Amino acid sequence: MTRPQLLIDTDPGVDDALAILIAHAHADIAALSIAAGNVGLDHTVRNARTLVDLLDRDIPVFAGCATPLVREPEEDAAFVHGADGFGDIGFAEPAAVVADEAAALALLRLTRERPGQLTLVALAPLTNLALALRLDPGLPQRVARLVVMAGAVTGHGNTGRIPAEFNIGFDPEAAHVVFQAFPEFDLIDWEATLRHAFDDDAFDRWLAAGDHRADFFGRIVATARSYNVSHRRRGVIAADALAMAVAVDPSIVTRSERRAVAVELDGRLTRGATVVDWDGRLGRTPQAHIVLEVDHARFEAMVRRALGAAE
Ligand code: BDR
Ligand code: CA
Repeated sequence: MTRPQLLIDTDPGVDDALAILIAHAHADIAALSIAAGNVGLDHTVRNARTLVDLLDRDIPVFAGCATPLVREPEEDAAFVHGADGFGDIGFAEPAAVVADEAAALALLRLTRERPGQLTLVALAPLTNLALALRLDPGLPQRVARLVVMAGAVTGHGNTGRIPAEFNIGFDPEAAHVVFQAFPEFDLIDWEATLRHAFDDDAFDRWLAAGDHRADFFGRIVATARSYNVSHRRRGVIAADALAMAVAVDPSIVTRSERRAVAVELDGRLTRGATVVDWDGRLGRTPQAHIVLEVDHARFEAMVRRALGAAE
């Protein structure tokens, strides 16, 4: 398999970090464009730079928009990821620098320079992608694929609004712009994530067997694991890692449905909900390949390799 070339839009974030470790092990990373989301943009940019230092690669980092497109966010996810987004370890100031170009502009430029070659992987609120699309609606024609971690396709979300998943709930208008503009994309939702959690004991063995990447990830994931235990969530949950696994190797998908998907923008209780036309009643052309199951053993093998713990 040729190594995919990835443009990763991300708000690191613990599971974003695992996703980027997977990308590093299995693909080529063209750039990281950074969104606000899990925590504020200053932290997510700094965390991206920390990851670039860890991977010892010359990966460009582009800072994006610090706020959602329209409304102030209702919540961030610091209660899961830590106040700094990386488990509050207190890492030293990273050496990697931020490029002098806005994330949305970098997405447009890089896809113009390499038309049809880059897989765009969206692991964050979709603010940067929406801005890029508003500037240049031709963006979808220049990417090889779009893979998005977002949504809760039967309404079992993970935010203060029951049906809303975080990446959509943080910036619903941006998700609306992206879902309307792209004629086709892979959608990895929160509910699929919960079905693909890792067994805690197995994960601990991988962390113990791995290299410096496992040491790093074991430290930053501790806060999120404690949160999940105290909220009756089973196993090690890594939404963005699942999306990245599908981006790197779509052949791991064992069950998916192609459906039209939209975002609720106005609901009093439902703003940010993912609305799926499961029965095709609206007559819209389905644009989302909704990933329902992947080969879990192959997903685990990708994570083990990303941690330096391949058997
Ligand atoms: C998504 O929200 C964030 O907290 C995670 O990094 C992931 O991208 C899961 O709902
Ligand atoms: Ca994320």
